[in-house]
Amino acid sequence: MNRISIVGAGPGAPDLLTIRAQNRIQNADVLIWADSLVSPEIIEMVPKSCEIIPTSSLTLEKILPLLIDRFNQGKKIVRLHDGDPCLYGALSEQICRLNDVDIEVEVVPGLSAYQATAASLKAELTIPGLVQTIIISRASGRTGKPYKENLRDLAALGASLCLYLSARHVEEVQEELLKHYPAETPVAIGYRISWPDEWLEIVPLQDMAKTSKKQKLIRTTIYLVSPALKRSRKRSRLYAEDHSHLFRQRKGP
Ligand SMILES: C[S@@+](CC[C@H](N)C(=O)[O-])C[C@H]1O[C@@H](n2cnc3c(N)ncnc32)[C@H](O)[C@@H]1O
Repeated sequence: MNRISIVGAGPGAPDLLTIRAQNRIQNADVLIWADSLVSPEIIEMVPKSCEIIPTSSLTLEKILPLLIDRFNQGKKIVRLHDGDPCLYGALSEQICRLNDVDIEVEVVPGLSAYQATAASLKAELTIPGLVQTIIISRASGRTGKPYKENLRDLAALGASLCLYLSARHVEEVQEELLKHYPAETPVAIGYRISWPDEWLEIVPLQDMAKTSKKQKLIRTTIYLVSPALKRSRKRSRLYAEDHSHLFRQRKGP
């Protein structure tokens, strides 16, 4: 059965693609890609005969007929998004409309920007006794963020907070976060993580906006705000000697 493959390209570096994503790209007849965010190095993997269509200047009304037309020609289509398609990728609106015309899709996951950033930092975002929750959100920009998800309330949890699409609003973001996180809370600012020009720095929350402005960050920037970014030697129960579980008996009395 033919279907359209919606594929996560990961954060940028081609060797961070999943094997399944690489396989779909290498066998595509048509590749419709988010050219403002996906690395051109990944596009080089398509076969010579592949039709390549960038989407940065297209609307959904332009993209859908392309997908439907090429699908009806029996082509193998890859719709390539950056990171993981489940996050800020306009996935749902495409799948609903394709299903309306009886076109099936598969979704191939990708590594999201927050995961690649944590890896670059060699950081664990869930440290026992310190923080066990990760929130993924964004600044309230132009795209319908529900009011009850406002940053002030999210910050009240003190969790590891991963902020996408927020560099343009960094001053108001910092102001909101400072209402709950201490001013010295570490914030990792990551620009084009895993690209050749990656820039990544940890600063105190109170310097988040100042540093972003100084670096002139507007696009492709992620913020990880987390008490976990201060290295911690706190122990998990998982590997504790006095803790038993299905695969290991506890030592001692
Ligand atoms: C439209 S959203 C898509 C997110 C993507 N689906 C993901 O899972 O990473 C684009 C935003 O993701 C973040 N982003 C994506 N790739 C990034 C990278 N390599 N480095 C830093 N931030 C990145 C930035 O906040 C950027 O503005």
